[in-house]
Amino acid sequence: MRLRKTLPLFLAAILLLPACTQPDKARQSKLVVNDAQIDEIIAGMSLEEKIAMLHGKHMFTSEGIPRLGIPELIYADGPFGIREEMEPNSWGSLGWATDSSTFFPTGSALAATWSEELAYAYGTGMAREARLRGKDMILGPAINIQRLPTGGRSYEYLSEDPYLSARLAVGYTFGVQDNGVATCVKHYALNNQELNRGGINVIASPRTIREIYLPPFEATVTEADAYGMMAAYNLVDGTWCSENDLLQNRILRDEWGFKGIIISDWGGTHSTVKAAINGLDVEMPGSRYFGQALLDSVQAGIVPVEVIDKKVKNILRVRLVIDPISPEKANTSITAKPEQAKIAYDIAAKSIVLLKNEGSLLPLDLAKYKKIAVIGENAVRTMALGGVGAGVKAYKEITPMVALQNKIGDKAEIIYAEGYHGFTAQERGDRKNRPSPYRDADPKLLAEAVKVAKSADVVLFIAGDNREVETEGSDRTAITLPSGQDQLMEALAAANPNIVTVLVAGGPLDLRVVNTYSPSILVSWFNGSEGGNALADVLLGTISPSGKLPFTFPVKLEDSPAYALANYPQQRAESDVFVDLVQRQESAARGDNKAFYSEELLVGYRWFDTKQIAPLYPFGHGLTYSSFEYGDLASAKEKYSANDSVRITLDLKNSGNRDADEVVQLYVSRIGAKTEWPLKELKAFRRVQLKAGESKSVTLAFPVSKLRYWDEASYKWILESSQLDVLVGSSAGDIRQTKRISI
Ligand code: BGC
Repeated sequence: MRLRKTLPLFLAAILLLPACTQPDKARQSKLVVNDAQIDEIIAGMSLEEKIAMLHGKHMFTSEGIPRLGIPELIYADGPFGIREEMEPNSWGSLGWATDSSTFFPTGSALAATWSEELAYAYGTGMAREARLRGKDMILGPAINIQRLPTGGRSYEYLSEDPYLSARLAVGYTFGVQDNGVATCVKHYALNNQELNRGGINVIASPRTIREIYLPPFEATVTEADAYGMMAAYNLVDGTWCSENDLLQNRILRDEWGFKGIIISDWGGTHSTVKAAINGLDVEMPGSRYFGQALLDSVQAGIVPVEVIDKKVKNILRVRLVIDPISPEKANTSITAKPEQAKIAYDIAAKSIVLLKNEGSLLPLDLAKYKKIAVIGENAVRTMALGGVGAGVKAYKEITPMVALQNKIGDKAEIIYAEGYHGFTAQERGDRKNRPSPYRDADPKLLAEAVKVAKSADVVLFIAGDNREVETEGSDRTAITLPSGQDQLMEALAAANPNIVTVLVAGGPLDLRVVNTYSPSILVSWFNGSEGGNALADVLLGTISPSGKLPFTFPVKLEDSPAYALANYPQQRAESDVFVDLVQRQESAARGDNKAFYSEELLVGYRWFDTKQIAPLYPFGHGLTYSSFEYGDLASAKEKYSANDSVRITLDLKNSGNRDADEVVQLYVSRIGAKTEWPLKELKAFRRVQLKAGESKSVTLAFPVSKLRYWDEASYKWILESSQLDVLVGSSAGDIRQTKRISI
């Protein structure tokens, strides 16, 4: 087993190439280098040994070949920190002292960096800790499209846009796998809601599936050589993902050339023969379908032994290309090293989005503001653990409050009021009488907070959701601020108009009230172990904010596509986390569980732009403490052909007086096309670092093949000749320069 030494090459490549790199189908070939040896191993194995590898041995392991010294595969959640050690056969914690890890910023925070390079660093950090903890495969990245503003796992996922999601997923996958660990990209596919996630049947047009929902998964396979894929809980067009021939065999394996392992989501296997024939390799975590039942099916001649051999081969391919450390060296000390804390900080620092800064309250001038009121439970609440899964037992987590105290020291006085009680784990766990997080403000806390705000020079209102509001297993029922925070906002503003609001959240929020009363607003996400430090550095102006929204902030929930078209929530409104399998299967059989994606391609900003519904803050939005001038666009050609890459160059100038990064975004808009298209679509972007006053020439490129559409009648990608406007700007709502080209 070898450690892949491709890091310097990869870094050289990303320095030389534009953000959009060409797919390199050869990369999956990494997985097949040991095929001859693997065939020999399989030829010497008993059927029982083979079947033992195809299901969970424990909660997070599947069997190896003990007789040959080939170890079990050890999986770890993922996606934003290596999960603590669990009991072999339950979700209970083992309570170890050495299993805490770095809490990396969650998915939408990473996405807000718009940086494939930072995603690579993220993967590197995750892989280092995974190896030291003795893990072979990280259950991540989680890359489903954020279709709903309310999606329970939006904070885990990356973006509403397939191209942005793909670039980050590729960076993450390379980062993990270049450091000796496998990824398991999840959840394949169309797992875009938590409501009834284990029984929902997604009905979407083939074109929508191909152009919006599959591209990020495809990119991890064809560009980044992903070794593992997790079959999602839901059904697509009437068939469970884990037994879906179209998704698993025809698209993933035959079209994209995937050579790795397909693993079911935990409890997401529903049959023996169908799942076995239609591509699933490993049932997790138990053996209900892929244990004795599979053995019997093979012995009865229903499942051919060649099908079993292929599965074992897929597993061994991964087993032999990863680079685990020896079990004796694993878990010997805390793995959360300062190097990973630095990565977590760098990502958090570049992820924070400045939504507005009217009157330039920010950066905070400590010479002027001597008494600072910090208000809100999120200032002191940690966000590493919570919800159902994907929790990280963080080695450390710097809260906003701790960071502000450390960094401000005696330069100003900080006074604190809790302001609101956030939704608790206990409240969420109360299935019978679960209260709503969307409740009135607590009058006592409100009065205290107002008093504190009144006595201060400036107020930092640390608002938002928490990990019990945004959680796996259920979607949010609203996007307004929970726990009476809007009421609190109004009261605070009446007491002191100098308010900076910081939103700690992973998904969009309804900011109508906050936007009215707060002159400055930042989004600081569930931002990992170093989140507080990054936030304090932005607030104090040590660094300029440079994150960009990876999704749209609608004015109100009803403006967003699935709500406007009333295709969500579906009738069967229970969350499925605790719904048992029989109930799910009955619901599937009754057919009352369909999610119609009737907005088709118009997901996120594609909807708002095309339907001309103004969002509150558009996709890609994010200000800095500086300003930028966009020069005219130059195109390498006026007319491009099918095999070309479009290349657009412009000069970008930092016209302000602070160093800052800008993320230049390139969208295309079709002129006179016969096919229907969203008004515009992101095709390239680039994060550019500029010193105050500095200019740089920026090139953005993308292959013309990325302009094709999926033709449902001929079942293939087609390029339509048309004119195109190339739109370059600072967000989907702030286009600075346009250039017409033709294809
Ligand atoms: C989640 C997966 C996770 C798995 C194992 C499932 O409930 O959907 O994302 O990897 O549990 O914890």
